Amino acid sequence: MNSTLNKMQIHLIAAARPNFMKIAPLYHALKTQDWANPVIVHTGQHYDLNMSDVFFQDLGLPDPDIHLGVGSGSHAQQSGQVMIAYEKVLIEKRPDLVIVVGDVNSTMAATIAASKLGIKVAHLEAGLRSFDRTMPEEINRLVTDALADLLWTPSPDGDEHLLKEGVAREKICRVGNIMIDSLEMLRDKIERESVCKELGLEKGNFVLVTLHRPSNVDKPDTLKILCQLMAHISQKLALVFPIHPRTRKNLENFGLMPILTESPGVRLLEPQSYVRFMSMVFDCRFVITDSGGIQEETSYLGIPCLTLRPNTERPITITQGTNRLCKLEELETMAEKILSANTVQKNRIDLWDGQTANRIVHSIRKFLAIP
Ligand code: UD1
Repeated sequence: MNSTLNKMQIHLIAAARPNFMKIAPLYHALKTQDWANPVIVHTGQHYDLNMSDVFFQDLGLPDPDIHLGVGSGSHAQQSGQVMIAYEKVLIEKRPDLVIVVGDVNSTMAATIAASKLGIKVAHLEAGLRSFDRTMPEEINRLVTDALADLLWTPSPDGDEHLLKEGVAREKICRVGNIMIDSLEMLRDKIERESVCKELGLEKGNFVLVTLHRPSNVDKPDTLKILCQLMAHISQKLALVFPIHPRTRKNLENFGLMPILTESPGVRLLEPQSYVRFMSMVFDCRFVITDSGGIQEETSYLGIPCLTLRPNTERPITITQGTNRLCKLEELETMAEKILSANTVQKNRIDLWDGQTANRIVHSIRKFLAIP
């Protein structure tokens, strides 16, 4: 099985920022296998240099083999365009397996396109449920998991949800959390980087904020309250806020930017690369976020995290980690509580150990009946 053509053709669908650190360890692990040819397919959902390219550089990924160039749009437009563009690729290439990750629109769209052509799909990060169908990601998760042929879960709750939804037990394989593989792969680099020093801040002496969920940033009233809360918190502790493009657009359109720019304790940044962002997570006092992945990274590292959402599809970060769900009106009190506490409990979560990519390679081997 030496020539690329004789190898199993495995498509890895990369689309949006949170996908890249899930694809990377798997790409590197598959690359070492003489039976596998991993092919990176970038849908183009995220296209800015600092939302996409810098992640490829940090994570040691080559340029995508295939680029669908889809870009932004409404949910139906974005999903539809990925389906149309990827279907053409699938018909031409007929890969042996399509691997989709996470819960973005491209994840669902690539799954539908492949399933309808009878091409096998594996979903990495399967089984997560917020039980909140107002979140576009929850719809994406439900559709993807209903169609996937192989479902890799990060934690036992994932297995339970899938079994309850009628997914056959033999399709489910618990592999752990792939993002921890990326974190451990780049730990040395992250520890050598010191973004907070660059900003003139001391380690442990700032709060890191990320916000991009439509429920927090698409409504002017909610976003205004959030800005006021950030300004207030920054009077006690420096606040670093790398701004997601969706959030920046809304802050500008709603005329809310001055609340932040006129607060001396607030540092506004462009979206950061993986290594630079993780360096800030390593060094901060605590995180305020509405991201999914950051709830997991902070739990793994033992950094307190306040999640500005009414629910989470990652409950293990609460039961075994450092994550707390937080309403807007509770933010300041919960932040105070973190500041007055001396220690944070750090637990080891089963299979969040940097070995997830190897377990997945093993699972693919079995699935594709590679001797
Ligand atoms: C998407 C995912 C979300 C994930 C998030 C991480 C869906 C439904 N949402 O949300 O689950 O947590 O990515 O970032 O798939 N934009 C740019 N440059 C880019 C990308 C986006 O300027 O490279 C702007 C555009 O104005 C675009 C908006 O951001 O309309 C939203 O982008 P989109 O990919 O639709 O959703 P996200 O909010 O990023």
